[in-house]
Amino acid sequence: MKTPSPTTDRSGSDHRVAFQGDAAAKARYVRAMFGRIAGGYDRMNDLMTAGRHRAWKRLAAQLADPSSDLPALDLCCGTGDQAFELARLRRGPVLAIDFAAPMLRIAQERAQRAGMAGAVSFQEADALCLPFPDACFSAVTTSFSLRNVAGIAEFIAEMRRVVVPGGRVVTLDLLGAPRGLLAPFGRFYLSRVVPLIGRFVAGDSDAYTYLPESTGYVPSAQEIAVLMEQAGLERVSYRSLALGSVAIHVGVRPL
Ligand SMILES: C[S@@+](CC[C@H](N)C(=O)[O-])C[C@H]1O[C@@H](n2cnc3c(N)ncnc32)[C@H](O)[C@@H]1O
Repeated sequence: MKTPSPTTDRSGSDHRVAFQGDAAAKARYVRAMFGRIAGGYDRMNDLMTAGRHRAWKRLAAQLADPSSDLPALDLCCGTGDQAFELARLRRGPVLAIDFAAPMLRIAQERAQRAGMAGAVSFQEADALCLPFPDACFSAVTTSFSLRNVAGIAEFIAEMRRVVVPGGRVVTLDLLGAPRGLLAPFGRFYLSRVVPLIGRFVAGDSDAYTYLPESTGYVPSAQEIAVLMEQAGLERVSYRSLALGSVAIHVGVRPL
């Protein structure tokens, strides 16, 4: 196991607790951290990806098969980007859940401002224990959440449980530094530049040190595909983006 470097910043929190194997402690850390950084989260995402995360979320929404009228679900929705992309493409309603109330408040304000409050609704819930019956959503999406949930296999199993037979489960995630010739630059960017931007823009270098270190705990694209198959999804495929540092996976619940 890696030994993450210590950090000191205004938050006074320590991201190392997220990597010590205690699921409840990780959930508490992640929930509190996103609660703390909610106000600067959208700006940080735009800065860190040069705005590319929006196009990736649009693609994930397209891959979720927008033709159904049934409700769709976005998990770990944060400030709502992925849910808004789903709602732009679908006739049916979109429900989005997260366990960090400050992220949800921003999502709700954004929905009001964009005139989308009728199309998307937000609810506070734990993605590892969803308060929904089996097979009630036409598609289930999630973006940038795998490294944050306390159990990836349990999370994918919940997605499979609530999607209808024939419905799609779509995940979009950051896997780590780009591969190939650009790998050293990618690692430098994630481990040095991102925490600096976090410190000066979000005032929270602990949160943005957690991010690059947490990517070390995300499975590879192939391993995510295997986890989806093991959860009972079929026709699993994925697309690599951003020089292999980001991937979108799609799996279908068998009929
Ligand atoms: C990196 S943010 C992603 C937000 C949004 N999907 C996006 O792409 O911008 C991860 C989100 O996952 C949420 N989260 C992590 N674990 C969760 C859980 N068990 N249940 C619900 N939300 C969770 C956090 O609160 C946070 O808002």
